[in-house]
Amino acid sequence: MKVLIVYYSMYGHVHRMAEAIADGVRKVKGAEVLMRRVPETLTQEVLEKMGALEAQKAFIHVPVATIDELGTADAIIFGTPTRYGNMCGQMRQFLDATGQLWVKGALVGKVGSVFTSSGTQHGGQESTILSFHLTLFHHGMVVVGLPYSFQGQTRIDEITGGSPYGAATITGGTGERMPSKNELEAARYQGEHVAKIAAKLVR
Ligand SMILES: Cc1cc2nc3c(=O)[nH]c(=O)nc-3n(C[C@H](O)[C@H](O)[C@H](O)COP(=O)(O)O)c2cc1C
Repeated sequence: MKVLIVYYSMYGHVHRMAEAIADGVRKVKGAEVLMRRVPETLTQEVLEKMGALEAQKAFIHVPVATIDELGTADAIIFGTPTRYGNMCGQMRQFLDATGQLWVKGALVGKVGSVFTSSGTQHGGQESTILSFHLTLFHHGMVVVGLPYSFQGQTRIDEITGGSPYGAATITGGTGERMPSKNELEAARYQGEHVAKIAAKLVR
């Protein structure tokens, strides 16, 4: 069973969450996990102005995703930073190139799941994930979130990202906050949960 984690990260928060998702997937026997970045669409000049180049060095080794590869996976877990309450443009552009898969129904019946990262606590984590789900539904995917059986999402003793729709982290205005222990646990839980469901479907 093959689980693809396909993500975009500008400053490393989504990348860190993707690593935790991968750890969760690996807990499921027989699950192979592959991490992939979606292609960059911004110029080096713009990335430099946004202060992203240094942070991106940490995950530049992650192979770039191809459209065809999506069709070979049993489950795909997508990660995107919030951009004005939506997925980032890099991810949108990648998904908008999946028409050939849609025509063939290549993703129908595969598990799809989404996680995210936002600068602020109420800056659009839920809208980002829920609006992302629309694309997964159009592809006929079996959409999976983060159930409340991950009890860390009910805690109010500390600020935490995450919702029943998917794991999430809050970065702070300048990206100074990296994913917390609780947020990483949520990501691991989601990875494991997706892999367990995919294992049942491929049987
Ligand atoms: C163009 C732009 C739009 C953004 N929009 C939002 C937003 O609507 N809400 C929010 O909380 N954070 C917003 N952010 C902050 C990003 O979500 C944050 O930088 C990202 O989650 C960090 O993840 P990364 O390190 O993986 O790139 C925005 C950032 C940029 C550059």
